[in-house]
Amino acid sequence: MTATKGLEGIVATTSSISSIIDGVLTYRGINIDELAEHATFEETAYLLWYGKLPNAAELKGLMDELSASAAVPAEVLEQIKLYPKGTNSMAALRTAVSSLALYDESANDMSAEANLRKAIKLQAQLPTIVAAFARIREGKEPIAPKAGATIAYNFLYMLTGQEPEEVAVKALDQALVLHADHELNASTFAARVTVATLSDIYSGVTSAIGALKGPLHGGANEAVMVMLDEIGSVDNVEPYINDKLNNKVKIMGFGHRVYKNGDPRAKHLQHMSRELGKLTGNMELYNMSVKIEELVTGQKGLKPNVDFYSASVYTTLKISRDLFTPIFAISRVSGWTAHILEQYENNRLIRPRAEYTGPSDSPFIPLEQR
Ligand code: ACO
Repeated sequence: MTATKGLEGIVATTSSISSIIDGVLTYRGINIDELAEHATFEETAYLLWYGKLPNAAELKGLMDELSASAAVPAEVLEQIKLYPKGTNSMAALRTAVSSLALYDESANDMSAEANLRKAIKLQAQLPTIVAAFARIREGKEPIAPKAGATIAYNFLYMLTGQEPEEVAVKALDQALVLHADHELNASTFAARVTVATLSDIYSGVTSAIGALKGPLHGGANEAVMVMLDEIGSVDNVEPYINDKLNNKVKIMGFGHRVYKNGDPRAKHLQHMSRELGKLTGNMELYNMSVKIEELVTGQKGLKPNVDFYSASVYTTLKISRDLFTPIFAISRVSGWTAHILEQYENNRLIRPRAEYTGPSDSPFIPLEQR
């Protein structure tokens, strides 16, 4: 038995949800470029769960169900108020999502119908949790979601209590579409491994949030913004990046296990970053990002991934940088739950092997002789 480090190139399951073939990403066979341009996040989530785009009535049905499920139990909000000051935003989300299960009587109902209903409910509740956490830590009361509003609108509304600008809603909605699913990425794999033991959907999503938190995965978008803040100005890009590259420090938001010729999602976020910069009259973050890209791609051949330009997009939307990864989760929960449903449909325990590299024939030494 020989191990493959990081399971690179290992095909671990079949799936009909999303594919990455020759650098092209599709959801249920539809090119991500088409969806980013023409579909809303709700249509995209429907596509992931049901395997087809909704017609108008089906979309309305989903919107109604999302609206009806978006409130979170008062007990969960009370618990969030007890989280220690300075709690990491992804730790907060992981804990709150785990506790949602305690207040859902159907949490352990394993019927396909109950699991689909829970998938939609989780999708509806994650934005409410993230916005509530963001307000509670500032000593403010959470704002209830607005009935009938989209997830992008509601999230921005619940953060501030103000009607969000149309351009901000559109940008966030497109970012949610782009982050919704991505084949067997680390967090989706974590979700599938968890539910393949026939554990419940809340356990699967909680595992996934834990996996997304790390800076080699979803945590990279926040790390990109930390870097942009450290750099501070276009003039400082070159010395900063050269210093990192010379010291073999990874530049966050670059490189990808699967894409070697560029992440197809990055161009949409770059475009959005440029357009939002023009609209707000502040191109500094965009210009810094372009300069970083020139240097990293020029010197290392590494291309930006989905996380790189999303940092400047979310900052221009006035979102705190530690909410970037939770926003990723708000979107990716659609993909996680679609994969969980698919795993249940055709389940087998996921239990790979390890290549043993420890000592052999070790003697057992009794306690008194050690
Ligand atoms: N900056 C500098 N060098 C890099 C970077 C980077 N961002 N990414 C990879 N490299 C280098 C590595 O140092 C390594 O060089 P070496 O062979 O000289 O040691 C080589 O490229 C291969 O890198 P690995 O880390 O082995 O590649 P892997 O496929 O395991 O990792 C990953 C992919 C984790 C995305 C990596 O590129 C990385 O750490 N990027 C920065 C973090 C990031 O942006 N993560 C988000 C990914 S997208 C997502 O999850 C949503």
